[in-house]
Amino acid sequence: MTDLDQTPVVNVDRTRPAALRTAACELFGVEYPIIQTGMGWVSGAQLTAATSAAGGLGILASATMTLEELGQAIKKVKARTDKPFGVNLLPNQPDAAQRLDLIISEQVPVASFAAAPKADQVSKLNDAGVVTIVTVGAKRHAEKVAAMGVKAVIAQGGEGGGHTGTIPTSLLLPQVVDGVGGSEVVVLGAGGFFDGRGLVAALSYGAHGVAMGTRFLLTAESQVPDSITEIYMQTPLTGTVVTTAIDGAPQRVIRTAMIDALEKSPGLLRFPRAAGNALQFARQAGISLPALVKTGLEMKKDQELTWAQVALAANAPMMTKATMVDGDAQVGILPTGQVVGAIEDLPKVADLLERIMSEAEECLERLSASE
Ligand SMILES: Cc1cc2nc3c(=O)[nH]c(=O)nc-3n(C[C@H](O)[C@H](O)[C@H](O)COP(=O)(O)O)c2cc1C
Repeated sequence: MTDLDQTPVVNVDRTRPAALRTAACELFGVEYPIIQTGMGWVSGAQLTAATSAAGGLGILASATMTLEELGQAIKKVKARTDKPFGVNLLPNQPDAAQRLDLIISEQVPVASFAAAPKADQVSKLNDAGVVTIVTVGAKRHAEKVAAMGVKAVIAQGGEGGGHTGTIPTSLLLPQVVDGVGGSEVVVLGAGGFFDGRGLVAALSYGAHGVAMGTRFLLTAESQVPDSITEIYMQTPLTGTVVTTAIDGAPQRVIRTAMIDALEKSPGLLRFPRAAGNALQFARQAGISLPALVKTGLEMKKDQELTWAQVALAANAPMMTKATMVDGDAQVGILPTGQVVGAIEDLPKVADLLERIMSEAEECLERLSASE
């Protein structure tokens, strides 16, 4: 008996076509092959619980929470639903080991990593019966984490929100499916999904479901301030940009005057502000200064970064908090997928999931019609 035997039984809607009941549903113990991804400052207990309660898999973003806040958020989700949910984390956070212990002791069914975890992190979670997911942007990354024993990958194409690669979803997804398809690894397409046609397209590439960020950010249960939601709703398909000016890694955000100014400012001028933000983020996330320096040293060594790049890496969370929590688009950033331009409403999560599943069903019927 594993810890996951505590996972509540899901009421399966057996009227859905078998094609929509995929290996992702089996692995996560959910009704629909739809995942609401971890989004810093955005996917808190309310959104996560709403998604899981409605039959998808909700994921709490933990990188922007202290360990204590994460513990409280897990309890809040459990108080709202007995369905499976997950926690998203950064593998190199200074207190990653304690976060994994918390996930295991709280019997959280799923842990998702924003980037490649360490092999011992995966084996620890596997031994405890926690299902592991990793977001990847290339076939070789998927193969690497599959070899570690990870159970699922989110293949995020370049059109996706937040930190993102350059390969579009339409090319990345078949590559990743070909790379790890022979194994038991569950593949989820991400980047640009918002409706049932997209879900069927992902399944036709050989994936087992979709993972969506921006679509869930724009729902009734998302707690993003109204003024910021309004900016998202008005952004067209062409209104986003991928920039390295925020933290050194390519990140897709809404193109604002602030981003244009940041891109024009010389790198050296960005560094002092980034360093200040890094310290502020460390305080916010409950990270001590020695622990911050230790992580910085590890990042410098592992990823061959300069100190300026290390400071920039902790910059993005504070700039996201300015918008998502404080509602200030003058100083903050608005991470988003290009799909923002295709989204026209702010539905309740349960209605959104029902709509996507009905559209997917209609799509399958249309494709299989004999005439
Ligand atoms: C506001 C925002 C914050 C995000 N924060 C995180 C994060 O903390 N961890 C993570 O793994 N991915 C993060 N992402 C990426 C999403 O989890 C997801 O992979 C991506 O949004 C998928 O693309 P889509 O927006 O086209 O659906 C974030 C995305 C957005 C839009």
